[in-house]
Amino acid sequence: MDKFVILGGSPLKGTISVSGSKNAALPLMAAALLADAPVTITNIPLLKDIFTFNKVISVTGAGLSFDEDRRELTIDPTSLTSYEAPYEQVRKMRASFYMAGALLGAAGYARVSLPGGCAWGPRPVNLHLEGLTALGAEIEMDQGYVIARAPNGRLPGGTFELKPSSVGATVNLVLAAVRARKTSVIRNAAMEPDVVNLCDNLNRLGARIEGAGTPVITVEGVERLEGGRMDNTPDRIETGTFMIAAAMLPGSDLTLTHTLREDLGSFTETFARLNTGLDLAENTIRVRAADTIPPVSVETAIYPGFPTDLQAQWATMMTQAKGLSTITDHIYPDRFSYVPELNRLGADVRRNDNRATIYGKSHLKGASVMSTDLRASVSLVMAGMAAEGETEVLRVYHLDRGYEALEKKLNGVGAQIRRESE
Ligand code: UD1
Repeated sequence: MDKFVILGGSPLKGTISVSGSKNAALPLMAAALLADAPVTITNIPLLKDIFTFNKVISVTGAGLSFDEDRRELTIDPTSLTSYEAPYEQVRKMRASFYMAGALLGAAGYARVSLPGGCAWGPRPVNLHLEGLTALGAEIEMDQGYVIARAPNGRLPGGTFELKPSSVGATVNLVLAAVRARKTSVIRNAAMEPDVVNLCDNLNRLGARIEGAGTPVITVEGVERLEGGRMDNTPDRIETGTFMIAAAMLPGSDLTLTHTLREDLGSFTETFARLNTGLDLAENTIRVRAADTIPPVSVETAIYPGFPTDLQAQWATMMTQAKGLSTITDHIYPDRFSYVPELNRLGADVRRNDNRATIYGKSHLKGASVMSTDLRASVSLVMAGMAAEGETEVLRVYHLDRGYEALEKKLNGVGAQIRRESE
């Protein structure tokens, strides 16, 4: 297992190129299985989760070739022969559950392991299953596996309302509906850019999807999908993470390239309240740290609201703000495992249910801290960069799931982070 050893106190100065989005890439990879010919997906990040999903896909017999230098992944669904996603892979990454919708759509049958629990609380898949049933799937459970069948090989299609709105369930339902016999309607659908990117790319291959980016998505089933090219979108969470890091580290002047401003939703307005220097172009963002950070409280919400995937990073920045702020997570109320770790570094953060109250400004001092999940880990790395002296962040394999070459990117703009084995 690797750890990071971070020497704090350096500003971030220079340019970082943002990688392709993990959360948008995974649906595209599943969607490629619906085509009749090979699909090449561009801008794929080099991440552990991508390699895990490659393994999931290879179990089906589909062909895979990953040109890592060009970040292009080609999936050939014509050799699909097995319709299963085994527990060994699904337990490593919940998004493997996208195989349920993809295999049902592609082959009319799927045997997919139920995902297990998660470090930050229960993450059910009831909506995925109820939604697939509403689209006409016959579902049974067998020894921890979901077995889903389409009557006569193709789903009829149907209408389903998501309560609450869910990114994963929306993706799964779109995948299942694309090649259904008739039209499907998904109400209260997720409006996240990941969903829009999926639908746009599917339409390029011949799907008939309308309403992506609004709460009602209508999918008119088509008999077949062409092969071709899909383009992955830049990682908005990586972008937001680096924006926050630059804002909180005094003296920073950081430019982010290959990003997409419009995917950030209302995050840019919240960020602007920090009064940092902020230049926003369509694909480039420049952030200069302000002399003092004002306390800015946030509440997570579905897109375009403040993303739950950025709340831990925001909390870390707020330890450096002058005054009291709160972070409230309405999407995942238990996502606060970073709080005791931040406090080990000298922060004063108090959690009550789904809210953390942060008393700033704290003088952070290096210590050993433990990563518990992907976004908590990056927030501890950021705290280490703000702390005096040396901080060890243990178990950084969480980071490798979702941040491409994090320490290399940060060291390239002035951070001092060493990767060592624990
Ligand atoms: C995705 C992201 C994750 C992000 C989350 C919220 C991927 C791979 N992961 O996760 O990084 O934090 O969106 O933006 O894209 N829910 C149910 N029943 C279900 C499904 C969800 O009750 O069947 C609830 C969840 O408990 C949660 C809410 O719906 O409270 C939203 O979760 P969802 O959007 O589904 O998150 P994921 O797709 O798992």
